Amino acid sequence: MRRALVAANWKMHGNRIFIQELVSGLIPALSGGVNGVDIVICPPFPYLQMVDSLIKGTEIVLGAQDVGAHESGPYTGEVSASMLADFRVRYVIVGHSERRSLMNECDQHVAEKFVAAQQSGLIPVLCVGETLAERDQGIAGQVVERQLSAVIDQAGVTGFSRAVIAYEPVWAIGTGRSASVEQAQEMHAAIRQLIALQDDEVAQSVQIIYGGSVNPENAPALFAQPDIDGGLIGGASLNADSFVRICQSVS
Ligand code: PGA
Repeated sequence: MRRALVAANWKMHGNRIFIQELVSGLIPALSGGVNGVDIVICPPFPYLQMVDSLIKGTEIVLGAQDVGAHESGPYTGEVSASMLADFRVRYVIVGHSERRSLMNECDQHVAEKFVAAQQSGLIPVLCVGETLAERDQGIAGQVVERQLSAVIDQAGVTGFSRAVIAYEPVWAIGTGRSASVEQAQEMHAAIRQLIALQDDEVAQSVQIIYGGSVNPENAPALFAQPDIDGGLIGGASLNADSFVRICQSVS
């Protein structure tokens, strides 16, 4: 039986006071954990240490929103996986569609980040997903397959035994337009099937979470699907009550 995972991706939002209040709002409901759910919070880099101290002693764990592909060196502005591990970060998002599109991160670069994260003991949360144009062209499955294959080429399929996959259709991110339960389940099942072709054990154990306009209202039906193991939550994770309700809606 797979555990569920719900991760908050705060993106580039917040400041010291906002984040302190947000985490304080989460702790009463989430500090002891929610049955069967891994709860991860991904603040912007400068707030990692602050959030780490606020969640100390709770069941909430720390994640980061990105990681550099290199271990160290002349890469101004980059943050390495070992640096994140040094700050007790356990998970790191790689290949978020905002980075793929705004920062021109290609599949191979995302795969390098995936490998770098694992080499430092972090659990990568690999984001995959198609744009609206790609869905309209009927190539959503091919796009997701290409994104996954790039990682399998570098990490091997067993790389997914220590990773999370987040299916995030680009057209559903921050738009208020979530994928339908059927669309999401269909892609999640296809992803699991793709991995099963190479390793069924890995396919059955990997957590595949959904992201894209998840809110407390649509979360229960999404999370009830057999291949949807939780969510990557953007906008709704900036409100403590919403995020708590989403975590609690895992059945
Ligand atoms: P959203 O973002 O929940 O605001 O759509 C999800 C994400 O980008 O991870």
